[in-house]
Amino acid sequence: MRTDLYYCTGTGNSLWIARTLAGRLGAGRVSPMRPAAGEVSGSGADAIGIVFPVHIWGLPQRVIAFVESLVPNPARYHFAVAVNAGQVAATLVQLERLMAKRGMALAAGFEIAMPSNYIPWGGPGPREKQQARFDGATRKIERIAAAVSAREELPVEKGPRWQNVLFSLLYRLSFRQVPRMDGSFWVDEKCNACGVCTAICPSGNIALAAERPRWLHRCEQCFACIQWCPQEAIQLGKKTPQYERYRHPEVMLREMLAAAAPPEGGG
Ligand SMILES: Cc1cc2nc3c(=O)[nH]c(=O)nc-3n(C[C@H](O)[C@H](O)[C@H](O)COP(=O)(O)O)c2cc1C
Repeated sequence: MRTDLYYCTGTGNSLWIARTLAGRLGAGRVSPMRPAAGEVSGSGADAIGIVFPVHIWGLPQRVIAFVESLVPNPARYHFAVAVNAGQVAATLVQLERLMAKRGMALAAGFEIAMPSNYIPWGGPGPREKQQARFDGATRKIERIAAAVSAREELPVEKGPRWQNVLFSLLYRLSFRQVPRMDGSFWVDEKCNACGVCTAICPSGNIALAAERPRWLHRCEQCFACIQWCPQEAIQLGKKTPQYERYRHPEVMLREMLAAAAPPEGGG
């Protein structure tokens, strides 16, 4: 029995959860999520788990592309962890439907609340609250590991009905705008053209032009650029100069850079 885990992440929460869960499951690979059907279908794992952040109450485009690239295998067990900041809404229902359309069953879908990286609404909150979420996540990971080890089939976790209806509508309205939402990023005078933003962006959406980052409108809104900028020079709208940045405390910049780099041999 082998479980492989695939993750995407902006600020390390999903990476940390995937890594911790892999440790509890005691086996398998932990890889950044890339639409790479050959790799996944040929991996030999009999279970696949996908771990990703909830974005605007739904699935990030990267998750959709990844699922669409999976070669269906009815014998394989699939599960997901939707990492969020308190509002998972109907994200896992959306995933369940997407997988069903592709001829795959989502056996179990779990949500885990972590500190928020949605900086336009403020920083991640006080340290004690962040720690409470890390502790809650650690407990939940134990339960997920037990369920996955037993190959349990469970209903997907979701928010209250009003949230699912309203927020799914907002998701549908905003989804197509996401690539161009990078129009609100700007840099202040602290930018020293270090290039971390260009290297950490998983979609290769940032170029340095005249020693300043330029966003190319294929943004995934993961917020890696604004949250990991060593100078805190990247801003979004008017208020972020005052807001604290967030990165998972046990995830290192070099791990984020390695995850964003194209795989060896291209792709
Ligand atoms: C563009 C964007 C949209 C988000 N939308 C939601 C949301 O709808 N519900 C929620 O609970 N958290 C939302 N968040 C917060 C993240 O899901 C949450 O902080 C998550 O733990 C980040 O995981 P990561 O570090 O792996 O990227 C959003 C974050 C971003 C950047």
